[in-house]
Amino acid sequence: MNKPPGKPFVVLKFGGTSVSSPGAWRRIASRIRACQEEGLQPLVVQSALTGITNQLDKLLQQALRENCEAPLGEIRERHEALAREMQISLPHRCDEILQDIGRLLAGVRLVGEVSPRVAARVLSAGELLASLVGVEYLRCREGLDCAWLDAREILRSESREHDDEHGDYLAALCGYQPDEQLRTRLAAAGEVGLTQGFIAANERGETVVLGRGGSDTSSAYMASLLGAVRLEIWSDVPGMFTADPRAVPSARLLRRLDYSEAQELSTMGGKVLHPRSITPLRDQRIPLHLGCTERPEVEGTVISAASDAAPRVKAVSSKSNVTLVSMQTAGMWHHVGFLAEAFECFRRHGFSIDLVSTSETNVTVSLDASDGRVRTAALQRLTRDLDRICKVELIHDCAAVSLIGRNIRAILHRLGPVLELFEEHRIHLLTQAASDLNFSVVVDEDQSERLVQKLHGIVIAANEGDDFLGPTWQQVFETRARPHGIDSWWRRKREQLLALAPEDTALYVYDLESLDAQITRLLAMGSVDRHLFAMKANWQPDVLRRVYEAGLGFECVSAAEVRHVRELFPDLDPKRILFTPNFTPAEEYRAGFEAGINLTLDSLTPLEKWPQLFAGQEIFVRLDMGKGRGHHQHVRTAGVHSKFGVPLFEMDRLAELSAQAGVSIVGLHSHAGSGVLSVDHWPEMAVQMAEVAAAFPAVRVLDLGGGLGVPEKPGAQGLDLDEIDARLGAVREQFPDYELWLEPGRFLVAAAGVLLARVTQVKGKGRTRFVGINTGMNSLIRPMLYGAWHEIVNLSRLDAPATEFAHVVGPICESGDTLGRDRLLPECEIGDVMLIGNVGAYGRVMSSHYNMREPAGETVLR
Ligand code: LLP
Repeated sequence: MNKPPGKPFVVLKFGGTSVSSPGAWRRIASRIRACQEEGLQPLVVQSALTGITNQLDKLLQQALRENCEAPLGEIRERHEALAREMQISLPHRCDEILQDIGRLLAGVRLVGEVSPRVAARVLSAGELLASLVGVEYLRCREGLDCAWLDAREILRSESREHDDEHGDYLAALCGYQPDEQLRTRLAAAGEVGLTQGFIAANERGETVVLGRGGSDTSSAYMASLLGAVRLEIWSDVPGMFTADPRAVPSARLLRRLDYSEAQELSTMGGKVLHPRSITPLRDQRIPLHLGCTERPEVEGTVISAASDAAPRVKAVSSKSNVTLVSMQTAGMWHHVGFLAEAFECFRRHGFSIDLVSTSETNVTVSLDASDGRVRTAALQRLTRDLDRICKVELIHDCAAVSLIGRNIRAILHRLGPVLELFEEHRIHLLTQAASDLNFSVVVDEDQSERLVQKLHGIVIAANEGDDFLGPTWQQVFETRARPHGIDSWWRRKREQLLALAPEDTALYVYDLESLDAQITRLLAMGSVDRHLFAMKANWQPDVLRRVYEAGLGFECVSAAEVRHVRELFPDLDPKRILFTPNFTPAEEYRAGFEAGINLTLDSLTPLEKWPQLFAGQEIFVRLDMGKGRGHHQHVRTAGVHSKFGVPLFEMDRLAELSAQAGVSIVGLHSHAGSGVLSVDHWPEMAVQMAEVAAAFPAVRVLDLGGGLGVPEKPGAQGLDLDEIDARLGAVREQFPDYELWLEPGRFLVAAAGVLLARVTQVKGKGRTRFVGINTGMNSLIRPMLYGAWHEIVNLSRLDAPATEFAHVVGPICESGDTLGRDRLLPECEIGDVMLIGNVGAYGRVMSSHYNMREPAGETVLR
């Protein structure tokens, strides 16, 4: 295109959180002015206020059942509140739009169905409303000459071959060839133009939308139509990171990517940018700048045609919700056209394939399940169709973990140690893209986070010092309040802790206030009749005393644990103890009955071998409900490979044996694993257990086990206990005959404990830095055993700027003796006190004397 007359355009796109507050609009205005000062003509493209599109989407479903006036009123109120806060009045056009939507929803109710055409019109309202408020503000409060532009007069959708009505109206694609007339028209409309993302019109002038995340694509189309000098996308993140910062806190902001790398990264799970938005930019070679509205001074990611000379891996991404289709056929070898036939089936049923791997007898492909279609009837139809030509197996709940960058082949040899992780766990599929931009493995979804961490540690850390790596997430948002969920009591009590830290040994310190707070949260659950503390997590006497005084029971797993609490608290009612041993000798059951404590059987063997021991007794039985849960394979305690519990297919035999032995089953117990962060787990299990209990008339208690997880990494969310409580309350109403018990360990004590250790030596090897401390896996084995992540800070220099990445290691003679990898720390000196957080559970209790090194001692803060 020849250089067009007039000022060059810049397109500025602002996402939902970047248009939802007066502060955000002030920043938009200042960004517009900065571009004008550069001699550019800005076109602002904006999203709907956060949450509004979801609300409209829900309204469409609600309209099938009921009148929707009230929720529409709420949507109006959201916009009016923003207008009020910005000291402007809500433009009249907003009411017209809302009335129009009201009529459409009434129509939906009348005809009893939502057509894609109507859905597109309803969904477009969010952007239309927000943009009217935006223009009013920029004109009235900022004095800008700003024109409101209807995106439907800018973007024209193109209908595609094979597309159905749904695609045409709700996932439209638009033309983006540079358009001189449009440039002239927009340049004349005002000094600044403001329009909507997500919306376009078809050739009949009807409203269509671009699908979720469509605003990015809208802005890319517009940048291309106008031949803009650049597109800026402003949101709540400053750009793309080397990994998801929630999973890998040491992930770094990427300063530069070329179009193909950005395309790979956004396709393979980097959620910052919609993958479709890259093509129009690449075609016109328009650079894309990503930035964070809240921190505009942080230099974000720039995506352009310039590619780095040196080949490097730039990111490790993970995409969950992947379903694999494995096609097995002995006859594929030399069978001309097998692949063509198979792929034709996918096309026919509307599935697009992501990854493919082939061997002589098997072809496995991955499908993206995030759009919800994959578990539907369409998949069944596809399977039936494929069944004609091969044997089909579906593998659900997988994740694709990918390395992204250039020349991946050159680093494959470095991946050996990572692949060792998979001795125990299956890699379902492995592909290396012909472009050499992507190397992916598909694994079970619950393994992906650990794999991402490991890969990141190996391949990204090696680029340390390269100028394409920016700050970490933590550095960007350092000034923000600590994330909800993690109680960093140790910041408040720093001076006390520093005074306690021994000179030449390490020490566990437990904060009893923090423990009390967790006990209070737990006891507030009205739906739970009894809480037992799983004392395997921490048996420090002062800790146990707090639990005892609060009236909780104790869940013990060995005769020694039972003895320990009984000696500490001689008045303890034996019925407050539940003894849940596994593969224990007969003697421990006998001692348990004699002591009068509750006892759980977790296998049928004792009833078969020693029926006389159980005669006339009341017992609990631990069930294996079939599905293990938790943060690591080693802590999942259900399913056929787990040694715990009686499987459901043995229930008849259990009834028979217990009747023969004359034993009465008064409680059912199940513990599926540890570190569970899904609120569904306990309520779902309670219902399943209640159903099993129907066959055992003496059952009064359903013990749902422990496993309540706690947040570990910055930004992680804790469990919503109120929600669990409400859901368990509903279960109790449904099954009023049963008491519900819980037996958490970690939840009560994890955050209450920290480990203090002194720096012994600091050293560097090439670019890798090591901070050595005076204890390691002998005091805390969780990082080595489970790849667990614990926060590590230099307590002596808590306020010093963090300047270097280092591995924090102990003195034990094993390379796995690493407590934290790639931790961002201030420069550490010999003698500094390092603090390792969240170690109150399964810390000291799992310590050892390995290397004849005494593990850390214990003390409490009152
Ligand atoms: N009940 C039973 C029968 C258990 O086996 C366990 C833990 C619990 C309750 C308590 O689970 P919690 O609420 O603490 O998640 N060492 C591993 C955890 C092993 C848990 C063993 N059983 C770790 O450090 O993560």
